Amino acid sequence: MKLDTLIVGLKEVVSPIRKGPVRGNEMGQLKVRKRTNIGIKNGKIAYIGTERPPALREVQAHGLVALPGFVDCHTHIPFIGNRSFEFLMRLEGRSYMEIMENGGGIFSTVKAVREASEAELFRYNMKSLVEMAHYGITTVEGKSGYGLDKESELKQLSVLKRLNASQPIDVASTFLGAHAFPDGYHKKSEYLEYLLGFVDKVRKYTNTADIFCEKGVFEPEESRRFLKELKRRGFRIRLHADELVASGGGKLAVELGAVSADHLIAADDETLRAIASSDVTAVLMPGTSFFLREKYARGDFLISHNGIVALGSDFNPGSCNIYDPLLVIHLAVSRNGLKVEEAITAYTANSAHVLDVADRKGLLEIGYDADLVLLDLGSHLDLPYMFSREVFAATIKEGKVIAGDL
Ligand code: NIG
Ligand code: FE
Repeated sequence: MKLDTLIVGLKEVVSPIRKGPVRGNEMGQLKVRKRTNIGIKNGKIAYIGTERPPALREVQAHGLVALPGFVDCHTHIPFIGNRSFEFLMRLEGRSYMEIMENGGGIFSTVKAVREASEAELFRYNMKSLVEMAHYGITTVEGKSGYGLDKESELKQLSVLKRLNASQPIDVASTFLGAHAFPDGYHKKSEYLEYLLGFVDKVRKYTNTADIFCEKGVFEPEESRRFLKELKRRGFRIRLHADELVASGGGKLAVELGAVSADHLIAADDETLRAIASSDVTAVLMPGTSFFLREKYARGDFLISHNGIVALGSDFNPGSCNIYDPLLVIHLAVSRNGLKVEEAITAYTANSAHVLDVADRKGLLEIGYDADLVLLDLGSHLDLPYMFSREVFAATIKEGKVIAGDL
């Protein structure tokens, strides 16, 4: 059997030790193979070792470090437009919630998304995906949540489907109709019932749903029934939980057996302990803390209590205009208390688990998809130190170079 491609002379081939979910201290135990070659056949990793099995094409990668392609398990694509004025308003002292309560924030992006045609939304977000490939991202999640009505929510999900089919990065979708409480309903429960009324249409696009469970948005009492009903109908459940104030979302995630509790910036010890001893993955997004100038979720506490931690960007026009995984890793290590090794596991194997693709993605092992990022580093331990430098050499997606060159 001839390989399609043999990547020769890698300084290090770095992989989490097992497929996600990887929990507690195992997150820090990477497998690091030195001076190694990687063989690819039919888009999958078919060989890892020091020999040179026959291949149709040999590519020199001398001195580069190979990691699994980054899996960004939490963004808010597709959206359109920019809210830089809100960023400036926050610097003047207005809070994120205050801006939203006055009709800005999420609602201003909802207006823009409702007004955009599907083609405009597609084009705008295609650009982000092309850039993401240059940052080593090979799988990304996106959500609805800027439609808040049936037609616009389905428009966002349809755009995600088309984006997935139209460029090399894998795009996973989540239904976040419960992202904010729009005008036109007497009660939040009435709006959540409205959303449940069209989940059969949503299911054509995704089996995963999310809610912004936060004081002043959808509180646990309002979220519980909605999420239970979605679960009963076969959806995987995720929650934006305890993002800005301790609101009970993290505990609700544990109670309902959610896939993930995301953000957790404001979660208290009891909540973090409960998450760490459950199968709920804590998705930390320090880019949001940085962008909003908030505290950082306590990743070290979660991991020392045997938790499962994943990293994501939260890329969106309001709370985090960042998708650079190296910046996120820098912040995870310097602010959330993760070790470099833990941050790598969190951005690969564990984020693949959150997206239900851990059987194929997140490891550099034989049989896994050949999704790799090649970096020009002394070793993988340089990652957080070199975050603002040009270290990206190439991104390989299912065996093909999609960014950079080799
Ligand atoms: O994860 N918290 C809710 N949603 C996003 C922000 C969305 C926006 O501001 O447009 C978040 O921070
Ligand atoms: Fe988010």
